[in-house]
Amino acid sequence: MKHFINLNDITAIDLRKILLDAKKRKRKRKNLNVLEVDRNNPLKGKLLIQMFEKSSLRTRLSFFLAIKQLGGETITLRANELHLGKGGESLADTAKILSTYGDGFMLRTDSDNKIEEFSKHLTIPLINGLSPSSHPTQVLSDIFTVEEIKKKPISKLNICWIGDSNNVLNSLIAASVKFSFNLNVGCPKNYEPKKFVMDWVKKNKKKINIFNTPIKAAMNSDVIFSDKVVSLNDKVNKKKKIRDFKKFRIDKKLMTFAKKDAIFLHCLPRGPEVSEKVFFGKQSKVWQQALNRVYVQKSILLYCLGKLR
Ligand code: CP
Ligand code: NVA
Repeated sequence: MKHFINLNDITAIDLRKILLDAKKRKRKRKNLNVLEVDRNNPLKGKLLIQMFEKSSLRTRLSFFLAIKQLGGETITLRANELHLGKGGESLADTAKILSTYGDGFMLRTDSDNKIEEFSKHLTIPLINGLSPSSHPTQVLSDIFTVEEIKKKPISKLNICWIGDSNNVLNSLIAASVKFSFNLNVGCPKNYEPKKFVMDWVKKNKKKINIFNTPIKAAMNSDVIFSDKVVSLNDKVNKKKKIRDFKKFRIDKKLMTFAKKDAIFLHCLPRGPEVSEKVFFGKQSKVWQQALNRVYVQKSILLYCLGKLR
């Protein structure tokens, strides 16, 4: 069994295998209804336990469909209905019980420590469904979407991120190392990626280009990514932060600095960081991006449960 906690910890070969499997499975399902099971029924009888300590629409639904399409079932625990965290039961005991009852545990949490602790005590795979420091299932799926639309390996493309240096960007940075693609980051001064992220990049002999002007970051890009300026775990002065990012709004004008056929991606939910014209425009592929999470998470589940062909 393998955890899926951070892209940094997974080999490039395994990440590529996951994407390849997702591509094949997606193609084979063309004529199936949403709840029909893949032909080989690979996770028949398996139970995925999910728990969200923060809001979620896409991650919740896509994991539900992912496990169902593989022949398994899922249950979602309400964090506030467990003994955990109220002092009634240790995390280690909770992990033991989850491992006794289930085959995999998907956790969205506001604590990186909790992910770390669960990973020590679970004897079933742990999948990080978003933590303050990363959102690996989202980003791996986004790589899939980029390659599906652009019809070439991401290593041949210029990728641009305009926005906050948050969990999604951390995972995109990890992906840029694993998949060797060029990454430009556009963000205001004082909002650059954290030192621990840049140290890891350096250690891996990679370079990320950071610009404090959005135009320079967007120049010649094949893909422009963005995300909410204020994340779920952000304990900041929200008004100030939104003000600080005002010049980094992705609008039609900014898109003209990217390549003509550039696409816009956003993991959602969105805020004022993108104009309606871009978000609903031709270059925006956000709905395809959201749906692809089902396909990639299926292959992540298979990887975790040792069933990836
Ligand atoms: N993109 C994403 O993870 O969406 P949810 O927060 O709705 O799960
Ligand atoms: N960066 C965002 C992603 C939401 C899917 C957050 O953490 O709220």
